[in-house]
Amino acid sequence: MSEENRLEKIVSLCKRRGFIFPGSEIYGGLSGFYDFGPLGVELKFNIKQEWWKSMVHMRDDVVGMSAAIIMNPKAWEASGHLDGGFADNLVECKKCHQRFKADDFEGVCLNCSGKEITEPRRFNIMFKTFAGPAEDSASVVYLRPETTPGIMVNFKNILDTMRVKIPFGIAQIGKAFRNEINPKDYIFRTREFEQMELEYFVQPGRDKESFKKWVDLRFKWYENLGLKNIRKREQSKEERAHYSSATTDIEYEFPFGWKEIEGIANRTDFDLKAHSRHSGQDLSYIDKESGGKFIPYVIEPSAGVERLALAFLCDAYKEEKDRIILSFHPRLAPYKIAVFPLLANKEELVKKAQGVYENLKKDFVVAWDDRGNIGKRYYSQDEIGTPMAVTVDFQTLEDDTVTVRDRDTTKQERVKIQELKNYFEKKLK
Ligand code: GAP
Repeated sequence: MSEENRLEKIVSLCKRRGFIFPGSEIYGGLSGFYDFGPLGVELKFNIKQEWWKSMVHMRDDVVGMSAAIIMNPKAWEASGHLDGGFADNLVECKKCHQRFKADDFEGVCLNCSGKEITEPRRFNIMFKTFAGPAEDSASVVYLRPETTPGIMVNFKNILDTMRVKIPFGIAQIGKAFRNEINPKDYIFRTREFEQMELEYFVQPGRDKESFKKWVDLRFKWYENLGLKNIRKREQSKEERAHYSSATTDIEYEFPFGWKEIEGIANRTDFDLKAHSRHSGQDLSYIDKESGGKFIPYVIEPSAGVERLALAFLCDAYKEEKDRIILSFHPRLAPYKIAVFPLLANKEELVKKAQGVYENLKKDFVVAWDDRGNIGKRYYSQDEIGTPMAVTVDFQTLEDDTVTVRDRDTTKQERVKIQELKNYFEKKLK
């Protein structure tokens, strides 16, 4: 299977099985926008939940928040997004007039193989709209292209309302929008996506050690979720954003090459200093024990939910002799368990299976399937990555045991109905 072919197969599975649809498909779609179906939304939800659990709930030094997508435009002036800070280099093919992000132009035009391009010009990729009924310059607002500033402008609110002491972090998950010149590689680079970002505030001088810790922690997070084919890559000075003194990317080997899935940046004191200056509010931190006052440095791990979903999908996709499997980590799988009655036309079996299904639903996300034969049902659940399947058969009616089948090994064993909850809690950890 060539790598290109592999991506095509994943795209087709995602469409066929209700993970991902082209945005507004019945109108011909819209470049750079995708809709997530019933299984896609579960996958995304699980990724976000894993992130939130490890970044907020399991830590005593991080709190969460959710800021408005649309902010006072002065915030974007302060953060440097408006005056060229959030722009890409745009070039145009002189032959067919197709426009490209300069980084994507690899010697020849991807559209017509033309070799001549215009000089690069800066193109701001923030979406503009209006707040209120007047469409004049005073009501121009922007859709946020990253969630960072929403956290930075709330630094003081969090300090004043929560018992936080440096070092501490503020985490946020939310939509971001970028008017990308060339959305590409399926859901890898889109115009609307979700970000999971942490701003971790530290004392100046402690930033380098904290940066290193976060790079390692974030790398381990992917390893713990079973993601293979990942590596760390340090960005060169030329690649780094203007505010960053160090950035390390975590990259995944997609069918279209090694690409960034998450960036960890040392943003220094750039943001808080800039917002202090522009807002006139003092955003420094006072250490109550020493009385020292300083503007904290910020370490920022930042990842995109859809990009991660694509990495997990690519990593999980496997073809075997007679089946296709998405071998997701159980915590990421959209459904954890599928329940079937052996035969759909035997009332006692269906009733018994429904009882098992209703009970398991209280603790797990469970799928019900009574179509076709057992072989087809296993095939169908393997293809969407359901780790465990339960079949209620004639023996169940006699001894209250069911057949449990494991997606990865296809091994089956009999388990007592009363023990299913404990059994799955162990298996699905
Ligand atoms: N606040 C820092 C920041 O936004 P970034 O490297 O521009 O840094 C962070 O973006 C992450 O957001 C990326 O690693 C990627 O996972 C995701 N991301 C960025 N642009 C994206 C796009 N157009 N489509 C999908 N995900 C994107």
